[in-house]
Amino acid sequence: MGFVDKIQELLSKREEAKLGGGLKRIDSQHGKSKLTARERISILLDEGSFEEYDMFVKHRSTDFGLEKKQYLSDGVITGHGTIDGRVVYVYAQDFTVFGGSLSETHALKICKIMDQAMKMGAPVIGINDSGGARIQEGVKSLAGYAEIFQRNIMASGVIPQISAIFGPCAGGAVYSPALTDFIIMSDKTSYMFVTGPKVTKTVTGEDITTEDLGGASIHGKKSGVAHFISEDENEGLLLIRKLISFLPQNNLEEPMVAKCDDPIDRLEDYLNEIIPEEPNKPYNVKDIIHAIVDYGEFLEVQRNYAPNIITGFARFDGMSVGIVANQPNYLAGVLDINSSRKAARFVRFCDAFNIPILTLVDVPGFLPGSSQEYGGIIIHGAKLMFAYGEATVPKVTITLRKSYGGAHDVMSSKQLRGDINYAWPMAEIAVMGPAGAIEILYGREIAQIADEKEKEKFIKEKEQEYRDKFANPYNAARFGYIDDVIEPRNTRFRVIRAFQTLATKKDTNPPKKHSNIPL
Ligand code: HXC
Repeated sequence: MGFVDKIQELLSKREEAKLGGGLKRIDSQHGKSKLTARERISILLDEGSFEEYDMFVKHRSTDFGLEKKQYLSDGVITGHGTIDGRVVYVYAQDFTVFGGSLSETHALKICKIMDQAMKMGAPVIGINDSGGARIQEGVKSLAGYAEIFQRNIMASGVIPQISAIFGPCAGGAVYSPALTDFIIMSDKTSYMFVTGPKVTKTVTGEDITTEDLGGASIHGKKSGVAHFISEDENEGLLLIRKLISFLPQNNLEEPMVAKCDDPIDRLEDYLNEIIPEEPNKPYNVKDIIHAIVDYGEFLEVQRNYAPNIITGFARFDGMSVGIVANQPNYLAGVLDINSSRKAARFVRFCDAFNIPILTLVDVPGFLPGSSQEYGGIIIHGAKLMFAYGEATVPKVTITLRKSYGGAHDVMSSKQLRGDINYAWPMAEIAVMGPAGAIEILYGREIAQIADEKEKEKFIKEKEQEYRDKFANPYNAARFGYIDDVIEPRNTRFRVIRAFQTLATKKDTNPPKKHSNIPL
């Protein structure tokens, strides 16, 4: 074969690889409102930046007549490219080849780019769309999965790992995404479960659809497995680009600082009036977040799961910051099992990747009740406490209104190594709210008052007395637990100043193999 023919051979092999499982299957993929693996990669990465590896890989199986069914790339497209000029490693499973199922060679391709990403210190993005283990390959496929899992575990806390789920992801296959930092699911076209509807029906008798068992809305709202739900794949891929912009390349780097024209001393007068006079009246803490961050832009993580706590990324004068905020609009912003777990994981992610944390506190305490106690709120609340106490990134805390009891300690308090703790003048920092306190302190006296009106008057007076003493920030400020009481409208400026000052912070934990966070 002459050189011209050799080049022709290369080009035709490339063409063949690009067709994956063939035009008919590509049409079928499009018919399900799904993109092909290559289309997904081209939306995800900067134009023309993708460098593909292992296009010519084929499977090695000879069972079930598989030797006659060969496709270049073996059902997964792998390589690297850039997002806003920064290197990322990518794999995208190709459903048109054996349903994107994972063979020995398919797994090897994924492991190769994961190994390179670790050496280079660059994020890995996996796009999942697969029927799971390649059934014809049996145990080799299981071993392939385990090789990936082990790499996910080693990469955790070293490089950011992001998983998109744009199709089936079932059985043990769910565990690679579960080991990564963020999961994005496309609405209506993706699902994740350990055991599908058929086996569920056989084993438990429960009749349930794929969507109700493991669709995007279930994992976005009920299980909290998915961090982001996108309306379609295009939106999901652009969301990954946005998410990456907040993150450093690896745990040894700082997040990129973006150019910012939003004035740092922008006053927001209406923040002085945002907290309702009545202590139990809700308000939306997201209004405060939008008011103080650069350009009002906030990328919320786990938006629909445990909405009594808000987590997400924003920028302050271009600096990437993770925000945790109690949400008085939902369950009065109480800490419960789910919100504690949600925030703990977010805080740990930020700490692992050098992203400073801003905590906005308005918390009435932990949710009481047997379902919370039986569910182990003690352990789950401890997770959030642990995450904050262990974190060495800059931590700025602002108490907006209530900060009661154990929840006060948990929410990035001074004693959990909060670096700068501010409060708004309407803050109430106390062991508990006035109503509960008065019942405990004056229960006997109250019981002895026969006249209802007298009783009410007595309670009101005592509550006021308690409120005057404790329901303000100055009692905590007197002891230095609060560094300053700030004017709400000036919050953006004070937060930016705080993070600028803390940029050189150095803090460490004692040497150990690893901590034993209450899991
Ligand atoms: C080999 C597979 C496959 C698999 C699908 N295909 N899954 N080939 N191994 N696991 C092939 C099909 O034969 C078909 O080939 C093509 O992919 C498309 O599949 P369809 O069934 O036509 O597509 P669709 O109707 O969209 O259904 C998709 C599906 C279904 C729901 C994913 O294919 C399915 O249920 N697959 C089996 C899922 C499964 O049980 N996997 C093993 C799970 S156990 P042709 O040639 O017709 O295009 C597991 C353990 C992992 O994964 C453990 C890790 C620790």
